[in-house]
Amino acid sequence: MRIARTAAELRAHLPQGVGFVPTMGYLHRGHLALVERARAENPFVVVSIFVNPLQFGPQEDFARYPRDLERDARLLEEAGADLLFAPSVEEIYPPGFSSRVAVEGPLTALWEGEVRPGHFQGVATVVAKLFLLVGPRRAYFGEKDYQQLLVVRKMVRDLGFPLEVVGVPTVREEDGLALSSRNVYLSPETRRKAPVLFRALSAMREVALRGGSVAEALRAGEGVLAEVPEFRKDYLAIVHPETLLPLSDWVKGARGLVAGRFPEARLIDNLEVYP
Ligand code: PAJ
Repeated sequence: MRIARTAAELRAHLPQGVGFVPTMGYLHRGHLALVERARAENPFVVVSIFVNPLQFGPQEDFARYPRDLERDARLLEEAGADLLFAPSVEEIYPPGFSSRVAVEGPLTALWEGEVRPGHFQGVATVVAKLFLLVGPRRAYFGEKDYQQLLVVRKMVRDLGFPLEVVGVPTVREEDGLALSSRNVYLSPETRRKAPVLFRALSAMREVALRGGSVAEALRAGEGVLAEVPEFRKDYLAIVHPETLLPLSDWVKGARGLVAGRFPEARLIDNLEVYP
């Protein structure tokens, strides 16, 4: 008989194998990049599709969030997923469900946490439940939602979930717009303007690369956003890549964050601005 005295020893003796990709469906190439990565690194790949009501605010788009399970299942089949988990809301949250998982502190208080109160508690609660149901060895999250990736990493570390969180780079359209299920909301005119988020982040990176200061980089980013008045900024920031606290001087891996609203949809993006 083996005796494990640490979580790491316990983990080492658990059966290995499942790579897990949690999603809300209406899949695009960004989601499929996570599935492909999971496919390459695990003998068995599970994908979940669940539009999680807990992570939407009362004024947000839960009811109209795009859904097409048939198309998603076809795409996942082609991508080589082994199992699709597509539960109903009642399956995940039966009547009387009243537990929550909350990651507290600045990591969830700032940025998306400030604009969307309760959002990360909704994300942490559903991701924790899905982790317990699926029991993965590795779980795949996009850098597209960079703050979410850090929140999930922190929850996994704090609570000792026996799995590795893998971050996957953002997949973009040719003009720089990050792929998102919400891009279907955009009118053709807004779609043309939507790359402004990536252009602002790129402008900040260019300033960094030519030796400019954080303040100069922020001014450059703000200048780009000002060219598109239809974009109502929630925040534009240069932050530490692990704490997400605002920086006054460069550190390696410094991240630019941007979020805001077009008339039809709210968009977010981020980029490493100081490699
Ligand atoms: P969803 O928005 O469907 O995204 C599922 C996963 O795909 C997330 O990890 C997200 O970061 C990643 N992703 C989205 N667009 C991407 C892109 N352009 N490039 C790379 N990865 C991308 O994020 C959620 O769902 C939910 O909050 C969830 C984690 C499933 C919990 O409900």
